[in-house]
Amino acid sequence: MEKTTLETSKLYYGFPVILVSYYDLNGQPNLATMSSSFSLGNMICLGFGRGGHAVQTIRATLQFSVNVPDRSLMQAIEIGGFTKGSEINKFEMSGLTPTPGITLQVPLIAECPFSLECSVQDIFEHGSYVIVVAEVVQRHVATCLLDSSMRLKNEVLDTILFAGDVHARSYRYLEQDKSDLLGSFLPEQGREIWK
Ligand SMILES: Cc1cc2nc3c(=O)[nH]c(=O)nc-3n(C[C@H](O)[C@H](O)[C@H](O)COP(=O)(O)O)c2cc1C
Repeated sequence: MEKTTLETSKLYYGFPVILVSYYDLNGQPNLATMSSSFSLGNMICLGFGRGGHAVQTIRATLQFSVNVPDRSLMQAIEIGGFTKGSEINKFEMSGLTPTPGITLQVPLIAECPFSLECSVQDIFEHGSYVIVVAEVVQRHVATCLLDSSMRLKNEVLDTILFAGDVHARSYRYLEQDKSDLLGSFLPEQGREIWK
């Protein structure tokens, strides 16, 4: 594959869009759209620009929920990402519905097929960013995404990816009914080696 160097200050190679939701210091639910996250086991890590309402509040309350939207929520995603929680209640503006968490004091977003209740463990500052490391203490999943054995139906997930460079960023969508099992591209012998 021929490659060239690319002068760009951003190269987003496809990160899931999430809605981070929290109660503000007056107990009102609010949310912010994010794409900078990763999760390993029970740990989830989010990257915020410094100064936003969501991160400032989460620094004080030390709890939030991560909600994974699907394609039916594009306008709410943009409201969450283009407005400030310090000025408006984004639940009211987007028409999304907050429902209470069962373990933490966090609002979950009823319309999102996945919601994770998250408890902050560490906060790091890096330049103009704030990195929040949290423990996932509860997972809520839409029943339509689970089979009769309560296993996730990976092939029907409709997670939205955020991708692009400094010139243009856009949303990408997953092909429906298409997934391959982990390890299925290795010969049987190879699978043993990697176990
Ligand atoms: C698709 C999308 C992805 C975004 N990803 C992030 C992100 O990962 N980190 C971040 O700090 N802001 C991100 N933003 C921008 C914030 O949503 C935006 O700054 C918002 O106004 C913050 O709201 P708040 O002040 O209520 O926290 C994203 C926006 C969009 C539309």
